[in-house]
Amino acid sequence: MSEASLPFNDKFYPSAEKIGSGDKRKQVWEESLKNPQEFWAEKAKAIDWFKPAPKVLDDSNPPFYKWFAGAELNVSYNTLDRHVKGAKKNKLAYIWEGEMGEVRTYTYYQLYREVNRLAKVFQDLGVKKGDRVAVYLPVIPELPITLLATARIGGVHAVVFSGFSAEALADRVNDSGAKILVTADGSFRRGKPVAIKDNADRALKIATTVEKVIVVKRTGQAIQMQEGRDVWYDQALAKAGSSAYVEPEPMQASDPLFILYTSGTTGKPKGVQHGTGGYLVWAYWTLKWAFNPTDEDIYWCVADIGWITGHTYNVYAPLSLGITAFLFEGTPDYPAQDRWWDMIERHGINILYGTPTAVRMFMKFGEQWPNKHNLSSLRILGTVGEPINPEAWKWYYTVIGKEKLAIIDTWWQTETGGFMIAPLSGIELTPQKPGSATFPLPAVNADIYDDKGQPVPTGTKGFLVVKSPWPGMLTTLWKDPERFKQTYFGRWPNIYYTGDYAVRDNEGYFWLLGRADEVLKVAGHRIGTVELESALVSHPAISEAAVMGKEDVVKGEVPVAFVVLRSGFQPSEDLRKELVKHIRTTIGPIATPDAIVIVNKLPKTRSGKIMRRILKAVLVGAPIGDVSTLEDDASVEDIKNTYEEMRKQLHK
Ligand code: WTA
Repeated sequence: MSEASLPFNDKFYPSAEKIGSGDKRKQVWEESLKNPQEFWAEKAKAIDWFKPAPKVLDDSNPPFYKWFAGAELNVSYNTLDRHVKGAKKNKLAYIWEGEMGEVRTYTYYQLYREVNRLAKVFQDLGVKKGDRVAVYLPVIPELPITLLATARIGGVHAVVFSGFSAEALADRVNDSGAKILVTADGSFRRGKPVAIKDNADRALKIATTVEKVIVVKRTGQAIQMQEGRDVWYDQALAKAGSSAYVEPEPMQASDPLFILYTSGTTGKPKGVQHGTGGYLVWAYWTLKWAFNPTDEDIYWCVADIGWITGHTYNVYAPLSLGITAFLFEGTPDYPAQDRWWDMIERHGINILYGTPTAVRMFMKFGEQWPNKHNLSSLRILGTVGEPINPEAWKWYYTVIGKEKLAIIDTWWQTETGGFMIAPLSGIELTPQKPGSATFPLPAVNADIYDDKGQPVPTGTKGFLVVKSPWPGMLTTLWKDPERFKQTYFGRWPNIYYTGDYAVRDNEGYFWLLGRADEVLKVAGHRIGTVELESALVSHPAISEAAVMGKEDVVKGEVPVAFVVLRSGFQPSEDLRKELVKHIRTTIGPIATPDAIVIVNKLPKTRSGKIMRRILKAVLVGAPIGDVSTLEDDASVEDIKNTYEEMRKQLHK
């Protein structure tokens, strides 16, 4: 999205909300930055601590900040036991709907019992505090149950999205050093069973730290169970007994709760590590501030729990608040293009937290689909994962929200733990602007810098940074503190570098403009171009590869790969197909390139650096631009020829 075309002056006033001037919001924000100790000491009271924090923030060793240093708590206790002991024991924690329409519900008490039983299974299998539990599951209730059971015994979960390939799973499991893997026989996609256990088996040939595998029966398809290693989830729980109880392990606030791998600018995914106390406080308050869910609400965040949005906003935030969350296993357009709207009507869903890609897809399907349903239960809408273009925003606002509902556009990242910039219906909403995530949350000291580290003037695009620590921030990168420091605090000391572009308008609203680094957002999924490039060059036919994002009307962005073949290989449709298959097995279907363009040469500087600007020009159909000023005087003729060749190949 270009900043020049943004509707800075378009304002919308959703009629179901009270819209204010923003003074109140500003006051809370200023207070949070002026007196962070007092502010967070007060907010921390929303959580049950076994031992309260002697100090809100230990900042003696930046950027390794320790929130609520010295405090002790357990996340499973906070999401389950305290509700079970109180008035919410029989309240629904989850309503789950499977791909085939089957529905399962769990009250807080039922969830508590099952979590205890699985925690007992973990204990019996020898999982101890600090041990990693790898998880490779579709969105079925056993997924949040596994996370909570892990947290209960002080383990560290490492969830790998179930759409990742065996190889990607192996890399992540290996890096985490997990002892246990929890997986399923399969999952359903468009009504058909899809293999999961097969992938896990292949991954475990490489990832050898795993000693035991717990397998949930989901599809009933035939799978191999390896004697001595694999156990069925149901049988293990039966053995643990129906009334097993496991004492929640007291954890230091800074102890890791989970690792979640995400793409960066190198080929190796980063193990983003989140702590326990700060993360939970952040999860709790960010959801309350932004969506302000009530005890009567049914709240639906559409994200897969394999990603950060699902971790924070399908598990830890809603359950620590004690609300009812809806979970959905599957495909948004199966069996028909009104699946979402049908579920919203049937379950009476009140809060819908969706994604720009889904909105654009539904836009394409047409408004007749939502219009078939009574959506009057909805009272607030949300979006996340990528910039929402103003057209999609307006469609969401008008067709789904009927111009009544606010749109909570939440900007944040795997690393930030929870929302960072978003409208806050729980504090004060300001007029909405289509495509702006509005203002930073309390404690978020956001700014926009130029490449010299100076704040940019209003209306000028720059790098989004955060200038103070906040409770939900990652604590480090798993086993790689140096990379943590370099990646996020290396550009400007003690300033958190987000890797995103942003611009502020003359009323101070923030507009997010996409990634400033080599990370793509494909249908909201974060994919590193370098990861894709290394996957491509690992194929015997490829000598060099360069991957760029190309704009896409539904997915926001799609990868396009430019590749050079090794001698002896000829371009062909079969080879292209094979390369696509290769990507699907090394990373996963989400990384499938939109096009593979075979060229003789890539545009490079004399020092061998790929000139991404030229690739971009090819993709957007822009003129090559001025190449006479190229650094280290690459051959202008050469670049021009390469550009022409790529252009022809792309549009062939
Ligand atoms: C992008 C997802 C614009 C951004 C929670 C960020 C967004 C990356 C928004 C993180 C939004 C996320 N508007 N862009 N509302 N939300 N992004 O780690 O580029 O999967 O850096 O976390 O998604 O992606 P991640």
